[in-house]
Amino acid sequence: MTADAARYWRLDGPTTTVMLERVDGSAPVWRYWGPRLNAGAEPPSPLSETRPRPTYSLDRRPGLSLLPTGGLGWFGPSALRAHRDGRDSVQAFECVAAERGDETIVFTLQDSVTRLAATVALTLDASDVLAVATTLVNEGDVALVVDRLASACLPLPSGPAFVRSFVGRHNLEFVAQETPLGPAIWSHETRRGVTSHDAFPGALAAFGPANWRHGRVYAAQLAWSGDHEQAIETLEDGTRMWTLAERWGPGEIRLAPGEQIRTAEVLATVSDEGFDGAAQRFHAHMRRRTPETRSGRRPVHLNTWEGVYFAHRIEDLKDLADAAAAIGVERFVLDDGWFEGRDDDSTSLGDWRADPRKYPQGLAPLADHVLRRGMEFGLWVEPEMVSPRSALFEEHPDWALAIDGRPQIAGRNQLALDVARKDVRDHLFDALDRLLSSLPIAYLKWDHNRALAPAARRDGAACGRAQVEGFYALLDRVRAAHPQVEIESCASGGGRIDAGVATRASRFWASDCLDARARRQIQRGFLHFLPPETMGSHVGASPAHSTGRAFSISTRALVAMQGHFGVELDPRRLSAEDRAELAAYIRLYKELRPVLHSGSVWRGEAGDGVFWQAQGDRSDFIFFVWREEPGLHRVAPSVRLDFVDPAQTYRVQEIEHPGLAFLPAEGSGFLAEARARAVPVDGGWLRWSGLPVPPLSPDAATLYRVTAT
Ligand code: DGJ
Repeated sequence: MTADAARYWRLDGPTTTVMLERVDGSAPVWRYWGPRLNAGAEPPSPLSETRPRPTYSLDRRPGLSLLPTGGLGWFGPSALRAHRDGRDSVQAFECVAAERGDETIVFTLQDSVTRLAATVALTLDASDVLAVATTLVNEGDVALVVDRLASACLPLPSGPAFVRSFVGRHNLEFVAQETPLGPAIWSHETRRGVTSHDAFPGALAAFGPANWRHGRVYAAQLAWSGDHEQAIETLEDGTRMWTLAERWGPGEIRLAPGEQIRTAEVLATVSDEGFDGAAQRFHAHMRRRTPETRSGRRPVHLNTWEGVYFAHRIEDLKDLADAAAAIGVERFVLDDGWFEGRDDDSTSLGDWRADPRKYPQGLAPLADHVLRRGMEFGLWVEPEMVSPRSALFEEHPDWALAIDGRPQIAGRNQLALDVARKDVRDHLFDALDRLLSSLPIAYLKWDHNRALAPAARRDGAACGRAQVEGFYALLDRVRAAHPQVEIESCASGGGRIDAGVATRASRFWASDCLDARARRQIQRGFLHFLPPETMGSHVGASPAHSTGRAFSISTRALVAMQGHFGVELDPRRLSAEDRAELAAYIRLYKELRPVLHSGSVWRGEAGDGVFWQAQGDRSDFIFFVWREEPGLHRVAPSVRLDFVDPAQTYRVQEIEHPGLAFLPAEGSGFLAEARARAVPVDGGWLRWSGLPVPPLSPDAATLYRVTAT
């Protein structure tokens, strides 16, 4: 089909409209991305007629297109930087075809001078998430070196705005940063070869006053697990352009004649309901993309890492499994320490056979024991890595990434394998396939514990993109061969959390930090982009290994309950009372998970050190409330549930849980009543006056079930 004769292309989601303008000799030009417009609405005039010529400007002033390129009057960032041995460095695309589906338009673009073709595919789906990906084809007869190809260049409005982005480190992921958007460029990128803790590949741009539930928020994330860059730049007319792209090394992408490259996808959304509105759209979208889980429910984990670390003894682990089953655990995940020679982190990555000293008959007796206790068996692996002290490295020293003549830099005593090589991937597949075929493994925790330095081969050729593609190819092959096996993505905690892995993994290990207070902010950050049931969250020991801070079982459990619940401690070391408490929270999680893991998440602050989160449906949700700091006031502030329907009446009941013993609710008023039974409360009252909550000491928490009558 040739390009539409009409001047505008339009896509609508339930609350969003995207509109592009046909401009002769150009790629389609962005005219609108925002709240849904009336049927038939069109801009008052074509873009060129709305922009009087500024003094001393060029005759040609292109608008922001789907594939803007510099050199012919476009002075914004170039979506494409490419050349043929120094030539053909100025490209200009025009639209030659547009193919429409229900939710999609695929634009075909052409540059006849440099002999390049491109497609930009836009999909706006029922969750109001716009997916954009760009493909470039070298139609010339000389190779093309591509330094950069943006996945998407998105339009943002003018006016006062700020960006919320996320930085972090091991043990402290998703630290929110807010930066006002001014005329200077805002940019954020990572160069560690993996998604990284440092810079999440996505952000939110808020226009005007915005908070959790109010205000116009644009959000985008790049579905990519390697180096990435994003930037927002103000254009000459005051509007802004948000570019998201993979980041490649020099000379890394070279397209031979006829070859093409497809970028990672960008997922983007716009909400007039603040940060939660954007998160809800992403969650709905990701739920369609995340692999289906076998059981449809998120089973309670026990992960052995912080309970036993490397001290694996089969009889002790069987005993641990018994203790886990006794408190209600449903999946027992054997973490690092099980394979040949692995007594600490200095050896053995790559030698994926059970250590005969620890497991004389292999892992089968432990796995069978776990299954007999009614639990699933999961296993930790770190396939992309090799220890210099390992049989694999002795046999194939050339499989590890290194540049000849330069030092091989270890990280956590390990090197990264060149997983772009097919022989390396075949070897890793065989090793994983052997494990998965010979043992009843339901679950793999797939780790990655160092940055890539260098992301290059012996001759210095950059290979960061090939590493990511190698990882995806290996993971996809394992999943295709073992579709029943669920995958968790981990990279020293939350170093590989992104929408690229999210289509392949059903769980992310959000952080190695199990400190309940630090976790709450990590989890709040995570929930901007991905749904709660994919967020691994465990009850760890107290004091927390990562910070030394102590928290009650109740506080730790209520934080873990906000994600995919697990236990990461040795229950045998708990007092009988604490163990019983933990078992009670596990029972509660099982009862509540259908509500917690569907519908929406709402986050908020009540003031005076009190925070809250609600999960579920607007008419039936779980409401968590906790205090982070000592309050100034003698009474905790009521929490205004500003998302409930004021026309409804709700039944509010504090959920019975062991931590209530420490939360006084004296008297016969609402607090005492709501503890005993579901109390009817007017929706308008909840929304505008607020829900009274009990006195909470710092780090104490409680939860309610709120249901429309
Ligand atoms: C890093 C992970 O984040 C931890 O949970 C644990 O699996 C260790 N690696 C094991 O080496």
